[in-house]
Amino acid sequence: MPAQDVLVIGLGYVGLPLAVQAAGAGFRVTGYDTSAAIAAGLNAGRSHVDDVSDREVAVARARGFRATADEAAIGPQDVIVICVPTPLSETDGPDLGAVRAAAQTAGRLLRPGTLVSLESTTYPGTTDEVVRPLLEKISGLSAGIDFSLVFSPERIDPGNPEYGLVNTPKIVGGVTPSCADAATAFYGTICEQVVRAASPREAEMAKLLENTYRHVNIALVNEMAIFCRELGVDLHDAIRCAATKPFGFAPFYPGPGVGGHCIPIDPNYLSYKVRTLGYPFRFVELAQEINGRMPGYVTERAAELLNRNAQPVNGARVLLLGVTYKRDIADQRESPARPIARKLRARGAAVTYHDPYVPAWQVDGQDVPRAADLQPAVAAADLVIVLQAHRDYDLAQIAATARLLLDTRGVVPAAPGVEAL
Ligand SMILES: NC(=O)c1ccc[n+]([C@@H]2O[C@H](COP(=O)([O-])OP(=O)(O)OC[C@H]3O[C@@H](n4cnc5c(N)ncnc54)[C@H](O)[C@@H]3O)[C@@H](O)[C@H]2O)c1
Repeated sequence: MPAQDVLVIGLGYVGLPLAVQAAGAGFRVTGYDTSAAIAAGLNAGRSHVDDVSDREVAVARARGFRATADEAAIGPQDVIVICVPTPLSETDGPDLGAVRAAAQTAGRLLRPGTLVSLESTTYPGTTDEVVRPLLEKISGLSAGIDFSLVFSPERIDPGNPEYGLVNTPKIVGGVTPSCADAATAFYGTICEQVVRAASPREAEMAKLLENTYRHVNIALVNEMAIFCRELGVDLHDAIRCAATKPFGFAPFYPGPGVGGHCIPIDPNYLSYKVRTLGYPFRFVELAQEINGRMPGYVTERAAELLNRNAQPVNGARVLLLGVTYKRDIADQRESPARPIARKLRARGAAVTYHDPYVPAWQVDGQDVPRAADLQPAVAAADLVIVLQAHRDYDLAQIAATARLLLDTRGVVPAAPGVEAL
């Protein structure tokens, strides 16, 4: 199949790995991003995405990959994949502005026979009700007859060393069976396994089911963490035991709140759609409420620890370790570290942070001082809060040095002054 022209619209965490992989599979790949800085950086061989190295960009460039922010410089395409953001609007509903703009770009560049695949996470019905009409109106062609249209959710897990684009099964839901055939042929050259959904709606729902499942189960253990402490139960030990069951149980772990661009946002897309039916999606709304309260709970626990040490929060030196939303990556989007820093500051704490992946960090437009040297900073702090246990951290040494330590991940070895969430 390769030696075809592939256009990836949106070169972020989802689009760039796909563009690099497709170039490696022999396609002539163009990346289109509205950010001229991103396009220029990639053309100069610089990656801005954790999971893609500069070397991989250079190899893709040598294979013909080029990035552009100029739609006029792009010719007709055989395959167009849309990987643009789907954030929340000001009222916490779906903001499909980027998807609409990308569909308009695709509509101008598609020709008879083109495959268009939407990968952005969104509510069921988007491909059929939002993308399809735009493509058909602009191109004058019909989906399922003149060109192929599918929804194929991206399931990338940034920083996961075991599962990536190639060995995570790829779901495709076509507007017609022949659309699904075209997508299966394309993705089959990049991914080891392609799974067909009945239509785009089921593919859209599959992605939201996966993320809602995580959101709800994280909320379950977060709520349990709060009452287990009062009951005198070590929840982490209970989870360890439950996880030995070889069937019917998947372990989830409590933490300071949910972050990233999936778990805190995607379920809103689903609850928005459910609300159009006149009733709420209660599980999601409850999970949002519980997970949304965790930064406040962490702040309360921090205050309690300091108080037991006869110290007020006001004036306390609090060091936050790991401010990204997950381990071993640089992505800070929706990280619970931000509301925690905000709340601690509001109570008068002198907040600093350390994170090997974050050279500078601001909260509400105000710089948070960065500790350059980890061990002296740990020793100097009145309280250390481990928010993200990056692999680089020697947790035993941190625990031995800290005066007081709140472990929000349940991974720090026991030591005097160390308390788990
Ligand atoms: N990041 C993840 O781990 C992940 C995983 C699965 C699914 N998703 C979903 O994939 C989609 C993309 O997410 P992401 O993390 O790659 O976003 P991102 O913000 O990293 O990248 C999106 C890119 O699209 C560009 N862009 C915006 N509007 C555009 C337009 N009209 N035309 C061309 N480029 C445009 C932006 O400049 C940006 O570089 C979202 O729907 C997200 O929910 C993300």
